[in-house]
Amino acid sequence: MTTVSTRIHPSVLNADLARLDAEIARIPSAAGVHLDVMDNHFVPNLTFGLPVVECVRAAHPDAFLDLHLMIEQADRWAPSYAEAGCQSVTFHLEASQAPVRTARAIRSAGARAAIGLRPQTPVEPLRDLLAEFDMVLLMTVDPGFGGQPFLDAMLPKIRRTRELVAASGRQIWIQVDGGIGPATIERCVDAGADVFVAGSAVFSAADPDAMVRSLADLAESRCAH
Ligand code: DX5
Ligand code: ZN
Repeated sequence: MTTVSTRIHPSVLNADLARLDAEIARIPSAAGVHLDVMDNHFVPNLTFGLPVVECVRAAHPDAFLDLHLMIEQADRWAPSYAEAGCQSVTFHLEASQAPVRTARAIRSAGARAAIGLRPQTPVEPLRDLLAEFDMVLLMTVDPGFGGQPFLDAMLPKIRRTRELVAASGRQIWIQVDGGIGPATIERCVDAGADVFVAGSAVFSAADPDAMVRSLADLAESRCAH
């Protein structure tokens, strides 16, 4: 029996945001839809916020919404996205004054709580807090923009995160975000990641859903090794 253990979550950041509804409809094979909320403070870019996410929720009631907050006021806003019906809400450790309280508020609202780390932020300080989270998001580029090249220097950090998760004995997803595509996904699988965000690789493809399936096949076949 083949158990699917990896997930592809396309990011809509580089999709046609004027046609967000239709763009999401182009990726029916995706396990989740990754939504990047940016405030032009935590990162030098500005995208969309709660009203747009609420509309996506209503337009795609069956989609797994994977929300990635790149905002300074993480503790203030993260629970609202869980209440809006996102299945997973990621906020950044660097932006949080109270990560445990915020993670618990997200879980209380019925969503998976996830913590994000910029490339330069070490994962080791999370060791004693891992039980509070359902996923760790490792940025594999500096956050803020799609289409940047994958940072190979992050591979050891992915491995160390996998070791920490294994030692915790918990089923915590490890997501990689930034520069993921056919040329980089396998080395991330090898390092221990299991949830893959792919933005430009998916939405610059002529057939985005075929790219999702091809990334899923690459990840699954690599896992089987
Ligand atoms: C960047 C965002 C990513 C971005 C990934 O800060 O968090 O989700 O959309 O885009 P690609 O896959 O093009 O690197
Ligand atoms: Zn993201």
